[in-house]
Amino acid sequence: MTTSFCRALEPQAGEVSLLLVEDREISRYNRRFLNRTGPTNVLAFSMQEGPYGEVNPHLWGDIVVSTETAAREAREAGLPLVDRVAALIAHGWLHLQGYDHERSPEEERLMELRTGEIVERMGKEQRRDSYMTKARLAVNVDHVATLRQARRGCEPDPVLAAGMAELAGAEGIIVHLREDRRHIQDRDLRLLKETVQTKLNLEMGAAEEIIRIALKVKPDFVTLVPEKRQELTTEGGLEIVKQQKNLAQVISRFHRARIAVSLFIDADPAQIQASRDVGADIVELHTGHYANARSEKEAVKLFERIREGAEQAAGLGLKVSAGHGLNYVNTKRFAGVAEIEEYSIGHSIMARAIYVGLDQAVREMIGLIEQL
Ligand code: PXP
Repeated sequence: MTTSFCRALEPQAGEVSLLLVEDREISRYNRRFLNRTGPTNVLAFSMQEGPYGEVNPHLWGDIVVSTETAAREAREAGLPLVDRVAALIAHGWLHLQGYDHERSPEEERLMELRTGEIVERMGKEQRRDSYMTKARLAVNVDHVATLRQARRGCEPDPVLAAGMAELAGAEGIIVHLREDRRHIQDRDLRLLKETVQTKLNLEMGAAEEIIRIALKVKPDFVTLVPEKRQELTTEGGLEIVKQQKNLAQVISRFHRARIAVSLFIDADPAQIQASRDVGADIVELHTGHYANARSEKEAVKLFERIREGAEQAAGLGLKVSAGHGLNYVNTKRFAGVAEIEEYSIGHSIMARAIYVGLDQAVREMIGLIEQL
């Protein structure tokens, strides 16, 4: 919390000390230095003012917060304690910067506004911290099955490929059981459920037959995608806004079976909000349009949309992943997009595996994701 708070304040060279105390102690400071009785929520003592102000220009002063009063205020306002403490620290900090709400109603309003800004920045920084170092690679093994199905034989086996990907460090395995069974077969899914050691993510259209299979097999989570028979691969994101009622019902069936649900969507603000509204746990942001951009300008624009989408989704409390068309070059642009916890990648890894082997192809992609 302290680190994210420090980053949330506009970076200023200097030192500030923070004391978290109980009511009894803050009452003592209140009486001794301000001649007031009883506890208060926060006190700020500037080291820039008074006779010693010149001694160390980098010493801003002390902020004292009563966690007891903060807890009471948080309960009354129905807020998490950490949010109330953050607001009080921001308030104290602004006092050290020379703001004083007692001077005028305008200054009071300005101080409230600035406090809100700092608290919002702090929330973002905290989310960034909690996602740090957590980006994972989940490998989609559909294309191994595509190769097998070309001869309708038994090799290469996607189940074996999944095991190898896990040995190389993948933290999730993804398969798409399509209604037309063009690559992954029911047998693959059943075996993967038995063998996957990390997390098994079943991609699927919301067709009743597949829903029933998923509820029976119980993967760790399902990703609902739009599915058209004629498409070469999943083309667009799932339309959530127009089918909220149906999707909410499907999601609650999975939740009753303790299966988390991800929705594969375009990074569109309305689709992201609707995903939250229908009860999704995760959104997978569609990176295919970005990957297929025909110019750098278009790529920048489409990437920016995904970055903003990731921020919006995380702000709504959704977990965020991304995938489709990502490869060893275009994934690098995601450096610094801390909200994305997982990258779902298949084709580029399998294509490289033909030349360098699956183990190396997976390790190289993990190395790249670790740099993001
Ligand atoms: N995410 C989703 C929802 C997909 O449908 C696919 C393709 O199966 C992927 C990720 C992986 O895409 P790619 O094979 O292009 O890496």
